Amino acid sequence: FRRLGLRGMKQRLLVVANRLPVSANRRGEDHWSLEISAGGLVSALLGVKDVDAKWIGWAGVNVPDEIGQRALTKALAEKRCIPVFLDEEIVHQYYNGYCNNILWPLFHYLGLPQEDRLATTRNFESQFDAYKRANQMFADVVYQHYQEGDVIWCHDYHLMFLPKCLKDHDINMKVGWFLHTPFPSSEIYRTLPSRLELLRSVLCADLVGFHTYDYARHFVSACTRILGLEGTPEGVEDQGRLTRVAAFPIGIDSDRFKRALELPAVKRHINELTQRFAGRKVMLGVDRLDMIKGIPQKILAFEKFLEENPDWNDKVVLLQIAVPTRTDVPEYQKLTSQVHEIVGRINGRFGTLTAVPIHHLDRSLDFHALCALYAVTDVALVTSLRDGMNLVSYEYVACQGSKKGVLILSEFAGAAQSLGAGAILVNPWNITEVADSIHHALTMPSDEREKRHRHNYAHVTTHTAQDWAETFVFELNDTVAEALLRTRQ
Ligand code: G6P
Repeated sequence: FRRLGLRGMKQRLLVVANRLPVSANRRGEDHWSLEISAGGLVSALLGVKDVDAKWIGWAGVNVPDEIGQRALTKALAEKRCIPVFLDEEIVHQYYNGYCNNILWPLFHYLGLPQEDRLATTRNFESQFDAYKRANQMFADVVYQHYQEGDVIWCHDYHLMFLPKCLKDHDINMKVGWFLHTPFPSSEIYRTLPSRLELLRSVLCADLVGFHTYDYARHFVSACTRILGLEGTPEGVEDQGRLTRVAAFPIGIDSDRFKRALELPAVKRHINELTQRFAGRKVMLGVDRLDMIKGIPQKILAFEKFLEENPDWNDKVVLLQIAVPTRTDVPEYQKLTSQVHEIVGRINGRFGTLTAVPIHHLDRSLDFHALCALYAVTDVALVTSLRDGMNLVSYEYVACQGSKKGVLILSEFAGAAQSLGAGAILVNPWNITEVADSIHHALTMPSDEREKRHRHNYAHVTTHTAQDWAETFVFELNDTVAEALLRTRQ
């Protein structure tokens, strides 16, 4: 009953995230072509039962003119998306600056910017001002589309100031906030100059969600230590008002991957790849080219493995797909050259006239090619230095049928909490340990592979993205209903 909207109609859900799930390309003054990114989050949210979802966010393009904005708004409406227009200056300060140069590294334990990344304190303050202004712009768009009874689900570190903007506007809005990154230990979080304002804003939400119990615990500790509030088993209490805090581990739409493996195009790719790498074991890495993904460390571990196991030199290949991301942020530019330098050196050292040990691609792959790669590879290396969840590990497991490939997984990825029993867990900073794990994975007896795979496959196919989204929305409705009951008693 609580889940349904008025008179049995579907409840409206407004999903607010920095980025819309579309890529928009301008084809003329008033013409846009749109491609919806069919990722896990999108299908999860569109598949939630009894809910009518719309998405509010930035389309990732600068549209300074009104004609272009009107045309894009109209085109997006057909995809159930509503744009927030951000100009270049605000993107620079809010997205490249505060979100990706300050919050992102801090939340992944890489610390606050040092001198070369942060010129002056004033720079920090102007970026935080831009962050708040951008969050207010998202809030303004929410107000325009909000109807009483709607559920508003804010996503990620870009929008920590949004719950406050929304509740200041209308205290009765049902607001949830979910973080897709880790929430770090309070000892790390408390170095953030704007620590108070952000915590207070997030606490304005009715329900706050994280991928793992540890992240939720860190958040509650930050609230008790920094704000002096009371942590309870339910969440955080401030003057009689409770903000519920809980873990909601995300999943993927595993059926979509299973179905893809039956498609002729994917089967063709699988055949081509199998022939291309015949006689060699294939290891795979698929990551955004981000410092949190530990790509240089992974490649150095592979080098150590080759060094210590010369008999494997022409019998194994590492395919590393490194998807370019946030290319305007200097740290990401430096990482690209660092990775290229290491790959070049190792290929020069161990390559032969006919084969190289590392195939490194600086680009994304289409969905079919990706599924085929997941299906044919013997070992996946997911060795993030820190990662909120990491769904590549889930996608790999979903695409491994009879092959029963081995997953090497960082203990610092949220996914280690759910796939830990099936994967080989590693500390990605320990290159020797990762090199040994590569050897273990490549030589693992088939009954052990089978046992490990069975565990992971059962988890990935039963804890789906749709369950995750449904549970969050249900709990949010429930939390608000209970709070209402309490105030009436
Ligand atoms: C992470 C974040 C997402 C973000 C994605 C891609 O997964 O949690 O919010 O959308 O990275 O990054 P980008 O900066 O390209 O949106």
